Amino acid sequence: MRVFDELWKIYTTQNPQVQQIYNHFVKEGETVVNDHIAFRTFDDPRIDITILAQPFLKEGYVEKGYYVFEEKKLIASHYEVEDNPEAPRVFISQLETSKFSPFLQQTVKNWVDQIPEEDLKSHDLIFKGNPWNKPSFEVYNKLREESEYAAWVYVFGFCANHFTVSVNYLKKFPEVADVNAFLKSKGYLINDSGGEVKGTPSELLEQSSTMAGIIEIEFVEGKFTIPSTYYEFAKRYPDEKGKLYSGFIAKSADKIFESTHYYKQ
Ligand code: NI
Repeated sequence: MRVFDELWKIYTTQNPQVQQIYNHFVKEGETVVNDHIAFRTFDDPRIDITILAQPFLKEGYVEKGYYVFEEKKLIASHYEVEDNPEAPRVFISQLETSKFSPFLQQTVKNWVDQIPEEDLKSHDLIFKGNPWNKPSFEVYNKLREESEYAAWVYVFGFCANHFTVSVNYLKKFPEVADVNAFLKSKGYLINDSGGEVKGTPSELLEQSSTMAGIIEIEFVEGKFTIPSTYYEFAKRYPDEKGKLYSGFIAKSADKIFESTHYYKQ
């Protein structure tokens, strides 16, 4: 699907680490199949989940799941193409900004106000990144005190936050733990919040992810290196009817969100 090709191009250009990881799998003779991609946004009705979902609804996607992350003050929906299990799932979350400080709310409002009307109406925000707002490093750090998620969206805006390798299709690495060991042997960091493998076979979904690649960003105050996007790995198990589970586990996703938490290399 053209949408995914375009998003992949932006994702790998911004964060070369994910292309390297993809290449490592190809070199091992693996076929890399995309389980899902994810986007982040704020709950402002001009840019919320329903707005970012537009390009996918046009491609025949329908909403299949709704998730609440109380501690992180997020909600999310996931979308699928019903008659095409090969189409990658799309997971879109948004921050519930009313549950945060007036500073965060005002910062988000000002941020959205910078987006020109034609871009808001274009239905292709997901490709745009954040060209309208040069971020301030001071504001980034102040947002981080309340929400790492808010700080991340403030800098990166609209782009695939991660792509996800379907472990079900891998031959040499049948378990998520095998993928983690392989990536660690290549020098990549695995998100270990809540354990390196999130979820269990009985929950029908196991996941892991890299820690986001560190990249240089031009802030108002100068250049600083911060975590960008990451790569995720997912293994799905069949339910009692023999159908592969297609949803998400909020408890696991909650920890996966932390793959973009600030860290120094
Ligand atoms: Ni994910």
